[in-house]
Amino acid sequence: MTRQVITLRINGENHEVFTYPHRTLLEVLREDLLITGAKEGCGMGACGACTVIVEGEAVLACLTLALSVEGKDIITVEGLKVGNEISPLQKAFVEHGAVQCGFCTPGMLLSSTALLSKNPSPTEHDIKKAISGNLCRCTGYVKIVEAVKSAGKY
Ligand code: FES
Ligand code: FES
Repeated sequence: MTRQVITLRINGENHEVFTYPHRTLLEVLREDLLITGAKEGCGMGACGACTVIVEGEAVLACLTLALSVEGKDIITVEGLKVGNEISPLQKAFVEHGAVQCGFCTPGMLLSSTALLSKNPSPTEHDIKKAISGNLCRCTGYVKIVEAVKSAGKY
């Protein structure tokens, strides 16, 4: 298989990558571009650690071919900041003690950001549904749900 140049629009900037067509978005982000906010947990679609936003939807970067998202708007946790400030949702995570480990937090933030962009006042049920694919094996979800619920106040 031969490598080819693809252009990915990540956090508002175009990145040209010379890579193989079978590479996942997660591999290209982390290994080719060294944008490491999206994490590899399971590598098979089960944990949500690799969640990014593509065209407003939360997607699993480990199951997405980089080639398939060429030209689309991709947001990683590095792109959530607003100017030099963390986003209102990130502030809510800090205030509510919802920043847990570096593996699950980026995915939780991106799934919740995708939810809030469509539904700024989600119910607890909406939030639980939105983060149902983001697993935490240790700390739990209570603080995260509280943070997302309150994000509109920040
Ligand atoms: S690394 Fe993608 S879902 Fe676990
Ligand atoms: S997996 Fe991150 S705190 Fe549990």
